[in-house]
Amino acid sequence: MWEALEQTAWVKTLGSTGWMYSTVAVTHYLTMFWFIGSIAVVDLRVMGVAARRRGLAELAEQLFPWAWIGFALAVLSGFLMFATDAGDWAPDKVFHFKLAMIVVSAIFAFIVQRGARRWAQNPEIPQAAKIIALISLLLWIATILSASEIPALEGLG
Ligand code: HEM
Repeated sequence: MWEALEQTAWVKTLGSTGWMYSTVAVTHYLTMFWFIGSIAVVDLRVMGVAARRRGLAELAEQLFPWAWIGFALAVLSGFLMFATDAGDWAPDKVFHFKLAMIVVSAIFAFIVQRGARRWAQNPEIPQAAKIIALISLLLWIATILSASEIPALEGLG
């Protein structure tokens, strides 16, 4: 199935046309920094480290919609790169780990998004919320690290 995807005409064109593949790769990196950067600002605000003069609920409401657009573009561009070598990527254990990390990190980001309005109503942001935000931040860092180690560990990419 994955080999069939790799052999599809548009995927072959994408994989063999330098500027097309580079555009997708640059999109992957830019959107990754875009959405993780936005989520990190909210996480740091919850932890009381950054943007302390901004209201938490308002900051989360402004940044999260953009973060999820960036996330969707990162997933789309990642899938396009995956498709050009799907037969090798699909069975790779470290790649599976990266995907699992993305899912867990996204769940935590969603919990922070949902919690922001409630936490902001307290005189002090609850300690549990700060721990959730810290975990969210660390998970994204771990996700980037797991993704960047794939070439070194598996020789892919
Ligand atoms: C949305 C969260 C994601 C993050 C944070 C992320 C992060 C990264 C990073 C840091 C790299 C660079 C690895 C390196 O060469 O050092 C990378 C490359 C790559 N990503 Fe993602 N990624 C994400 C989503 C995805 C998804 C959903 C897929 C596939 C379905 C994917 C497929 C790929 C592929 C195939 C490469 C290798 C490109 C190459 O070097 O040939 N990514 N990603």
